[in-house]
Amino acid sequence: MFRSYEDYKSAIDGRALPAAIIDLDAIAENARRVLAAANGKRVRVVSKSIRCVTIIKHILSLSEQFQGVMCYSADEAVFLSQQGLSDLLVAYPTAVPASIENVCQAIGQGADITLMVDSVEHVQCIDNLAENLGVIVPLCLDVDMSTQHGPIYFGVKRSPVRSVEAAMRVYESVKQCQHVHLEGVMGYDAQIAGVMDNVPGQWAKNKVMRYLKRKSIPRLMQLRGDVVKAVRDAGADLRFVNGGGSMSLVPTSQDPACTEIAVGSAFYASAIFDNYVDLEFVPAAMFALAVARNPDDDIYTCSGGGYIASGAAGKDRLPSPYLPENCSLLPMEGAGEVQTPVVCKSHKLKPGDPIFLRHAKAGEICERFRTALLIVDGKVESEVSTYRGDEQCFF
Ligand SMILES: Cc1ncc(COP(=O)(O)O)c(C=O)c1O
Repeated sequence: MFRSYEDYKSAIDGRALPAAIIDLDAIAENARRVLAAANGKRVRVVSKSIRCVTIIKHILSLSEQFQGVMCYSADEAVFLSQQGLSDLLVAYPTAVPASIENVCQAIGQGADITLMVDSVEHVQCIDNLAENLGVIVPLCLDVDMSTQHGPIYFGVKRSPVRSVEAAMRVYESVKQCQHVHLEGVMGYDAQIAGVMDNVPGQWAKNKVMRYLKRKSIPRLMQLRGDVVKAVRDAGADLRFVNGGGSMSLVPTSQDPACTEIAVGSAFYASAIFDNYVDLEFVPAAMFALAVARNPDDDIYTCSGGGYIASGAAGKDRLPSPYLPENCSLLPMEGAGEVQTPVVCKSHKLKPGDPIFLRHAKAGEICERFRTALLIVDGKVESEVSTYRGDEQCFF
């Protein structure tokens, strides 16, 4: 526990609820843990897991080892460039001409944005638009890191580039174009970073997941390294090789092919990441709901709270009551559209008191709140705008 219920309650006393809360001291602690695990590699900040310009800039200011931002949309990269950020890598390809043109125009005005590709079509589309607008667009090649173990496909369905040959086909098309060039390779090990392996009550499944991860890591590292070598041998002057995520920091930090690791969720330490064996972070982002009524002993019904996370739907996508300790949601109600009953046996609460919950995923909480209260030394230091407060909505 980083701070107690009473600490946070007194910090936000008198504030309007519901409210999003980000504890900058907890972020600093998480940043230290990230750097300690990164083995000296640079760390690119994953914006989708932050979604607040002030916090992205704050993290980047904590260490020179934090360099660059991994954006989740081309339009977002343009927005962040307008906020003064540079080295912006768009992690997912887009085939929307208006977004690519937006990036090309920003590059023409000095923006430092790299677009992701995984096919000859992506390359040619960007090259055509870049030619029309008279710019050269830096590209990064997304290599799929999924692995096959007998009948089990362990990974995600994103990039179709699954071999050196497929990577070289895309790279050869880059070489034939005048208005794009290859600056980076990304191999995101989603099956390591994104699959929980320490879920309470799922002993057997956890064991299988850890076994598959152990088998998968050397194979994906081999492919990532082979692709990097092949494109370098064919003339690519790569500025970076990106891999990993918060929950694959440790293996990625050991991969000689990777020059940098992408990390986002570790900074807020959202609830779903409690279910991993590798690393531990301290909760830094939460939201406070106000108790509105008390329908039964130990049950406090709060206003709001139904902030469900994306991904395969299940109980782990619900917010988790955090403080007071040992609170829980009612299985029949979950977190409601406008009301959320919370079971709390450790404290007697009254209407108006806060209950603190954590979102299952990191950045999505910022889509629900226009501002976040920043806590420093146990006090609200300032109130800052989230992407939503900035009127930004990318997906
Ligand atoms: C391409 C890519 N890299 C890295 C990450 C890891 O992000 P985080 O550290 O927030 O888990 C993700 C998350 O989905 C991703 O899509």
